[in-house]
Amino acid sequence: MTPILKPHGRLSLCAEMVREGSRLADIGTDHGYLPIALCISGKIPCALACDVNPLPLQSARDNIEKYDLSDRIQTRLSDGLKEVRADEVDDVVIAGMGGELIRDILADAPWVQGGEKHLVLQPMTHHEDLVIWLYACGFDIEDQKAVLDEGKYYTVVCARFSGEKRACDLSAAVVGKLDPHDENCRGFLRRSLQNYRNKSKGDPSLLSVVNDLEELLLSYENK
Ligand SMILES: C[S@@+](CC[C@H](N)C(=O)[O-])C[C@H]1O[C@@H](n2cnc3c(N)ncnc32)[C@H](O)[C@@H]1O
Repeated sequence: MTPILKPHGRLSLCAEMVREGSRLADIGTDHGYLPIALCISGKIPCALACDVNPLPLQSARDNIEKYDLSDRIQTRLSDGLKEVRADEVDDVVIAGMGGELIRDILADAPWVQGGEKHLVLQPMTHHEDLVIWLYACGFDIEDQKAVLDEGKYYTVVCARFSGEKRACDLSAAVVGKLDPHDENCRGFLRRSLQNYRNKSKGDPSLLSVVNDLEELLLSYENK
């Protein structure tokens, strides 16, 4: 049988980072594949599949019915986390959206700052802005990984509130908790370096980020 999530793909990495046994809210669920795959594998008992748009939510509902999971996965029309209560979920996944939208969704739901909530965030753009915001608000980044999926690199950030607020400069935020020993993390950082090289042509203040990333990558690529 074809797996629901592409093995070693972007959503598989998100699924890997969800805690075993947790009640999940998947925000911006679209097709609903992430909660469906996690329920079928037995990693989680139940989930809320949420989307702000009725059409994707209907597609999630159709897929949930197809896999006979309506008793374990509830669909909900929700702008971000607005219709989700703190006592309903343990882990929150927000994947496939821009880093700024993910940040705004979290900022609108102060209950995610309960230290027991585990956030799995997969920004498609501006991951560094999300990292800076997480640190400034008192979240710890517990883990961060990268994956190569159909020729593109993606990162997934796991965060949990600790209350310790920290400033983080742009170079440190681009790297976050990515492990430069890992080939996919280096690939993601090389792509970020290319973006910063392009941006620095219009904004020379970004040259320091270019230099920091070049130095970091060089030191690991020569190892
Ligand atoms: C590109 S899809 C990502 C689907 C899936 N999470 C993934 O990573 O493959 C983005 C989904 O987020 C939904 N979305 C956009 N803004 C949202 C918001 N503020 N709250 C909830 N869902 C939102 C869209 O309707 C769309 O279904």
